Amino acid sequence: MRPATADDAAAMADVDRQSWPAPLATTADEFAARIAAYADGQLVAIAAGRIVGTASAQRITTEFLAAQSHSYDSITDGNRFTRSHTGDGEIYQLVGVGVLPEVRGHRLGRLLVDRQIELARSLAGVRRIVGFTRPAAYSLHATTPIDDYIQARDSDGNLIDPVLAFHIDAGARIVSLHRDFRPDDSAACSHGVLIEYTK
Ligand SMILES: CC(C)(COP(=O)(O)OP(=O)(O)OC[C@H]1O[C@@H](n2cnc3c(N)ncnc32)[C@H](O)[C@@H]1OP(=O)(O)O)[C@@H](O)C(=O)NCCC(=O)NCCS
Repeated sequence: MRPATADDAAAMADVDRQSWPAPLATTADEFAARIAAYADGQLVAIAAGRIVGTASAQRITTEFLAAQSHSYDSITDGNRFTRSHTGDGEIYQLVGVGVLPEVRGHRLGRLLVDRQIELARSLAGVRRIVGFTRPAAYSLHATTPIDDYIQARDSDGNLIDPVLAFHIDAGARIVSLHRDFRPDDSAACSHGVLIEYTK
């Protein structure tokens, strides 16, 4: 794993195209803007010489988070971080992690997020580590009220939603639920869930 450079933007977009539902994938142009805004926060995972995973983050201020309407577009400045990232922002915000389908289940996604958390903990001035994540399988359970769904567990005690499980099982806590967070996220029925890892 390493921080991305400008030359990685196209390969990162390629991973995102294969990892995320089509309207949610970050483009090469958007990755380039993120790298220009905050290269240290854009990580890539490499296996057999090619990029197979990406994890993005930015630093934002408490005032910025409070002032936003809590939509994905506003909190990420249209997915580019150009005006949302603040060099000394006290909130480290995890924005997206994606791993190629063929290498999933090998803890690469976890390694990427753990590296982001390690980085955030090492940074002077960072007081919180948060992320808006997606209840990615909610459309399959949409008869369950969303407030119940994000806490719902199966008979073995596992969280039903795989992406929430990815974060909560690793120690994150749910802070709040945001309806209409990302209208293009049909699998999550547009919902976003603000989570927080301990600093
Ligand atoms: C989420 C994602 C990055 C996980 O990548 P991954 O490398 O396969 O995940 P890991 O192998 O590191 O999984 C770590 C833990 O997450 C949980 N998890 C991940 N995928 C899961 C799934 N489909 N179902 C249930 N649990 C899952 C498991 O608890 C797993 O722990 P285990 O290895 O002990 O079983 C990947 O599925 C992905 O790219 N999804 C599409 C994009 C997306 O929705 N990103 C997250 C939004 S922020």
